[in-house]
Parts: sequence; C-alpha cells; structure tokens
Amino acid sequence: MAKPNPSFSLLPGQYLFSETASRIRRHEASAPTRPVIRLGIGDVTCPLVPAVVRAMHAACDEMAADASFRGYGPDHGYPFLREAIAEHDYRARGVEVSADEVFVSDGAKSDTGCIGEIFAEDSRVAVCDPVYPVYVDSAVMAGRAGHLLPDGHWSGIVTLPCRADNGFVPLPPTEGPIPDLIFLCFPNNPTGAVIGREDLTTWVEYARRHGSVILYDAAYEAYTATPGIPRSIYEIPGARSCAIEFKSFSKTAGFTGVRCAYTVIPRELERDGVSLHALWSRRQATRFNGVSYITQRGAAAVYTPEGREQTGAIVRHYMENARIIREGLVDAGFAVYGGIDAPYVWIQTPDSTPSWTFFDRLLEVAGVAGTPGAGFGPAGEGYFRLTAFATRIDTEAAVERIRLAAETLRRP
Ligand code: MLT
Repeated sequence: MAKPNPSFSLLPGQYLFSETASRIRRHEASAPTRPVIRLGIGDVTCPLVPAVVRAMHAACDEMAADASFRGYGPDHGYPFLREAIAEHDYRARGVEVSADEVFVSDGAKSDTGCIGEIFAEDSRVAVCDPVYPVYVDSAVMAGRAGHLLPDGHWSGIVTLPCRADNGFVPLPPTEGPIPDLIFLCFPNNPTGAVIGREDLTTWVEYARRHGSVILYDAAYEAYTATPGIPRSIYEIPGARSCAIEFKSFSKTAGFTGVRCAYTVIPRELERDGVSLHALWSRRQATRFNGVSYITQRGAAAVYTPEGREQTGAIVRHYMENARIIREGLVDAGFAVYGGIDAPYVWIQTPDSTPSWTFFDRLLEVAGVAGTPGAGFGPAGEGYFRLTAFATRIDTEAAVERIRLAAETLRRP
C-alpha cells in the first residue's frame, strides 16, 4: 500500500499565507460592507513596466512565426538572460559571477524550498526566527526538522533569534550543534532589517570554518537604500566557497504572477569534493523545464537602460508607501521597525497583544489585513508585518484607518 510521507503530517496548519487568506475571506463574508485593504502577503500591485511589456510582446510575435518559434529552452535559462544577470547584478558592481553560474528559475520560493535536495538528508538546518516560512516548512517536508516543541521551535532546526535588541540580525551560534545549511534573508522578510558588511563577513567566516553552506535569499536586494549595505553575499571575500544566492524578479519588476528568478552557485562551491553547481544543474535538468522564452525576454528587458529606470521608479514608489506606513504608524503610537531598506514594516503589537489576536482585531476594527508575526516563528509573537506593495491609495487609506482605530487597538 502506498503510504503518505509522514513528515507532512508534522506540519502544523496551513501555509501561512493560505491561513491568512482564509481568515480574510471569512471576515469578508461576515462583514461585506467595507472592503478589506490588504497589506498582508507581499504581492505587488504596479503593472509590468513598458520596457518589459514591449519585450514580451516582441517575444510573443517571435513565437508566432515559423522561423523564430522556440520549444524547450536551454536547461538553465537562455544565455541572453544569464549573461545580462551576471553583467548587471554582479560584474558591473565589481562582484565575480559568471553567466554559467546563474540558474534561471520560476521563483526564489521554489528554489529556496528545493535547494535542500542537493544536500545529505541528515543536514542540519539553521533559520532566523522570525523567518520566511518556506525554509522551515520545506525542512519539515524533507524530514530534517525533528518534531515541533511546545515553544514553537523544531527539535532538529537551529534557531537564530532576531529581536529588537540585536537589530533583528543574528550572529552565528556559539554553542549547540553546528548547522550545515544556514538560511539568511537580507533585506529581511519579515522584519525589514538589513545586514551590514561586518556581520555578513562574520557569517561567511563561520561557514568557511565549519564547512556550512549559507543559503542567502536576496530577493529584496533592490530595496536596499542605505549606502554600504551588501547587495550580494558575494561582495564578501570567501563567500564563493560557502554560499548560494537566490534573487527574484518578483518584487523588483512586478513578476509575482509572471514568475522568473535565479539562483547563483559558484563553480568552486564544493563539499566532500562534490560540486554543488553540478548537483543543482543535474537536479534542475531533471525536474524543471525552465521559464518561458517570453518571460525570459521580459526579465532581460529589466536590464536595458529604460527597464532599469522604469523598475527603479517602481521600487521608489513602493518605498514611499513604506515611508507612509512607517511614519503613519509611529504617529499613531506604534513601535515600528524596517521599511527603510525593505518593503516590509515590522510593528510591535500594543501591550504585547498576541499577533493572531491583533490580526483579527485589525481586520474587525480597521478592515486592514496584515500578517501576524507569530506566523513567521515564535520570536515573531508580539509583532505584525505590513507590506508596502499595495497601491498608494490603499496604503494611505489603510494608515488612516489604523490611525483612527489606534485607541481601540491599544485597548487590552
Ligand atoms: C511574503 O509576503 O512574504 C511573500 O510575498 C511571499 C513570497 O514571496 O513567496
């Protein structure tokens, strides 16, 4: 008899954003008069920029003609896109990455969720707490997480606490088991924190000393505004021999629905004499048929002068939303973090209100949806995440609603 994978039964509840969506739907069904303003899941609202649309239309025309029609693309992405990525996101910034180290994919979520497949089953995973839930849920599915402890941590996962007192940036553990795979995400989802060069160097040195591999999710890199903050882990000397980097067009170019991202694995990254580049190459060639030609042409257009200008304007637009949220909530009396180098604003719930309670209360009292911090891990309890990706009108209206409801929200 076929047996289901028992690891899946260890997962508590639904995926975080499925759970919040169900609750919002239930709320809307019971209170249909006022539409909910969604500042929950980080889904973009600005349309594709003209440079991208033009490139996709042209690619579509190519697909419509006998002479230029294309079927399956190259396993790891078309050379024009891999080359543009290596040139503009790395070499132009003085960082060494070659086109054949870039694997084009359909999303940083898929890649960070699947990268564990190229490592030994008993690899020990470390994650920040709070954390983008995909890393943890994928470790659970892969049987690497042990069991869920009463305090919300997993017995087999090393937790790196990110709190206000460490600026939401963890340092390597000094005791306990040494992790093999270390997930770091900066600019951070959910806290909006960024990591400085010195701290990132500490992590790279730690990984090199212990043979760990850092899985560096830089999906929000384009939102880094503070000068001197690393935009890629490969800016740190030695990172090429201990880090894999994930980036995405989702939040930079409005591709959450279009789907295109990439993962960089340097050639020299090996463990036990085995090339991790070769393993991921084998994995992708077997399990993935690539991103459509039309999409890859659209992604490549992001790197043209007009594409860069247009997507840059969108990033600035979202960061203005972040400013509106940040300042509005500070005015309303909340303790607020993030939102300066990242499109997420991380707020403390008043009087340590449990974050799911705050989620329900905010929906009810203000008609605004966010994401409860506890959904990102036990250290997220007492916090709440708002995204800057809504429209300007919705962002301003949400802040106004929260401001008007602030007294009620603060009441125990
Ligand atoms: C989020 O809201 O954390 C992101 O939108 C999730 C994602 O990118 O998968």
